[in-house]
Amino acid sequence: MSTQVPILDLGRFEADRPSLVTEAGDAYREFGFCGFVNHGLPNDITAEAYDVFKRFFALPNDVKMRYRSVAGGQRGYTPLGLEQAKNQSVPDLKEFWHVGREMGAGNPWPEILQPNRWPREIPEFKTKAYSLYESLDQLGKRILRLIALAIGLDENWFDGRVAQGNSILRAIHYPPIRNKNTPAVRAAEHEDINLITLLIGSDEEGLQIQSRKGNWIPVTSIPGAIIVNIGDMMKRLTNDMLRSTPHRVINPPGPKSDQPRYSIPFFVHPNPEFLIETLPQCISNERPNRYPEPITANDFLEQRLREIKML
Ligand code: OGA
Ligand code: NI
Repeated sequence: MSTQVPILDLGRFEADRPSLVTEAGDAYREFGFCGFVNHGLPNDITAEAYDVFKRFFALPNDVKMRYRSVAGGQRGYTPLGLEQAKNQSVPDLKEFWHVGREMGAGNPWPEILQPNRWPREIPEFKTKAYSLYESLDQLGKRILRLIALAIGLDENWFDGRVAQGNSILRAIHYPPIRNKNTPAVRAAEHEDINLITLLIGSDEEGLQIQSRKGNWIPVTSIPGAIIVNIGDMMKRLTNDMLRSTPHRVINPPGPKSDQPRYSIPFFVHPNPEFLIETLPQCISNERPNRYPEPITANDFLEQRLREIKML
């Protein structure tokens, strides 16, 4: 096994499906991470979303604070110094903006899938940000088809189960690091909560994942590639067959710490009532069910939001 997260060509889903499924499955069992090129996400959609997010982060603090997040931080703005990774003593060095699913009338879970907030200061924010949300929502479903095949499910198994999912687009700004001796890091070691995460901006230095042996390996991506990793819901659903790998974003050394870093993870969540119940395909004599108690996606999420001090 190499020590590099593989980068696969998603175009092979049409041309060369069985071997792509095998390679992605291997990557997710070994690393919990896999990169994709030729993923079809238009560059201009990404670039225009980055543009409105950067303009938002550049606004004065008191303006940004008008959009202070609600609902466990799941919509709107979360300032620096709030989110603290599980079991860490200091908060991360990041501020971020969350976009959730637009539901309109007939929302079955109005308490959970709450309305988005949109900054009035940037009129095109909503269209640009939501257009990226929708593109990533589609791409997330394509990756889930690949994963479904890799674990022996029907190709479209996840489609309906994530269609009204509480998926979150998170635009993150890691500001220049002023106090070089800070014990805090940009993003302390953590695992993602959700099914899978699609990460844009992974070609910016700093992201590291923990190997099975426990050492930290940098994710060296190529520009334009999207990194997709397994979250704890998928790990639990697959009885730990797919790895949800601890990862972190370290503070860059020397003059590089004066540069900001931006990244955009998209957290794919199932519908709030989806029951996370170990898949029979992932249970065997050698691998008995490690999670005999099922839990709904929303209960799982709330439990974790409390642990990271967001609820
Ligand atoms: C996260 C995360 C990585 C990055 O927000 O969960 O792991 O590169 N972000 O910002
Ligand atoms: Ni993460």
